[in-house]
Amino acid sequence: MHSFGYRANALLTFAITILALICAIASFTDSFNHPTPLAQVKVLNINWFHKQPNGNDEVSMTLNISADLQSLFTWNTKQVFVFLAAEYETKKNALNQISLWDGIIQSKEHAKFWTHTSNKYRFIDQGSNLRGKEFNLTMHWHVMPKTGKMLADKIVIPGYRLPEEYR
Ligand SMILES: *[C@@H]1O[C@H](CO)[C@@H](O)[C@H](O)[C@H]1NC(C)=O
Ligand SMILES: *[C@@H]1O[C@H](CO)[C@@H](O)[C@H](O)[C@H]1NC(C)=O
Repeated sequence: MHSFGYRANALLTFAITILALICAIASFTDSFNHPTPLAQVKVLNINWFHKQPNGNDEVSMTLNISADLQSLFTWNTKQVFVFLAAEYETKKNALNQISLWDGIIQSKEHAKFWTHTSNKYRFIDQGSNLRGKEFNLTMHWHVMPKTGKMLADKIVIPGYRLPEEYR
């Protein structure tokens, strides 16, 4: 006859095996989800645009950021980190990336939103390259799963341009 300890141990082993199996299935089925996230950003206003005393350009903008990231959520999604970046090219760097706004989305219900905001983080160039500068706005996301590996991707929204003159 098996002792209680033996049976408890067998039960625990069984439970752990099932749990590991569920985790494997969770991250596996997750890889079949082909998300179709949408993002749209409008620059509603250039609040001000100047050169700082140290020679670096800085701009403040009002943005309308709207997104539908609901398709990123599966039952294995813990949360989604999003950030909006301005990306542009200068003589010195092929890619300058400046984060303007970010957020953490905790649930699918909150993954479809719009927000009317000025840039949360400062848009400062390392120099005075911003007058008339073309730039892209990119919505980046990191999907943090309950189990399995993190997923990251982005949507590029091209075709923005800063004013030719400081204001
Ligand atoms: C922001 O964009 C959303 C979606 O395009 C729109 O419904 C909303 O009215 C806009 N808000 C402002 C303040 O422009
Ligand atoms: C901006 O987007 C366009 C079109 O996707 C791309 O060709 C260009 O390289 C992007 N610019 C930067 C600086 O990433």
